[in-house]
Amino acid sequence: MHTYHACQDVSVLADYLEVPGLGFLPVNAFVIHAAQPVVVDTGLGLPGRDFLSALAEVIDPADVAWIWLTHPDRDHTGGLFTLLEAAPQARVVTTFTGAGILSAERPLPIDRIYLLNPGQSLDAGDRRLTGFRPPLFDSPATVGILDTSTGVCLSSDCFGAPLPTAELATAHDAAAASPGELRAAQLLWATVDSPWVQTVDPAKFAASFLPLRDFGPSAILSTHLPPVTGDGAAMFATLLDAPTTDPFTGPDQAALEAMLREFQPA
Ligand SMILES: [Fe+2]
Ligand SMILES: [Fe+2]
Repeated sequence: MHTYHACQDVSVLADYLEVPGLGFLPVNAFVIHAAQPVVVDTGLGLPGRDFLSALAEVIDPADVAWIWLTHPDRDHTGGLFTLLEAAPQARVVTTFTGAGILSAERPLPIDRIYLLNPGQSLDAGDRRLTGFRPPLFDSPATVGILDTSTGVCLSSDCFGAPLPTAELATAHDAAAASPGELRAAQLLWATVDSPWVQTVDPAKFAASFLPLRDFGPSAILSTHLPPVTGDGAAMFATLLDAPTTDPFTGPDQAALEAMLREFQPA
């Protein structure tokens, strides 16, 4: 993991996951340096990922006031419980459904939970962080963030893309990838992560972008893409094609065995 400053008031804790056949998926967590500091997602739980040490490079973990879990998938909850111990005042922002999903593995104490639905806002002292439902998502608990003070949008899994190299996956700007490469990878991710998109009415899907388009984000920060600064219009245009993109089908057992044979010594 490494850390860097992405845009106004936001630090990135950047990591990645190599997915065979797909590429290198960025896995970002963020710190919004509000008057009441907010950690957004907590990274992978794999061995060797010391989320707390990475976090300490950008903020004293004890000062964290809020842990906004965009959804409780495993690539977002890796450092959750160690951070809850290190930040005794912090409360986890999630939904009723998100808390329920977490409770199937390790319940959160009720006094550490703050329930927030899309459309509702969190007062972080010097700014209002408004929850919104990103156009693409893979969990019923997903709530992204619109920072009404800086215009920054944190979009959770939406806009993600597996990229060809680890260097690109941890780049400080999505523009490090070529526009064509980025478009293909974002559409691939859309079909992998949100396969339901191919069953929806394209017009209704297009309408789901309107709140984000009206907000006019100054930056889009996805958990699974390097930061997008400036105009996000190209990103919207790409994802609007997701309903008509070919569905993703993963390798089956025969393909897996063929791959394994390639790795065996002659
Ligand atoms: Fe997810
Ligand atoms: Fe994710």
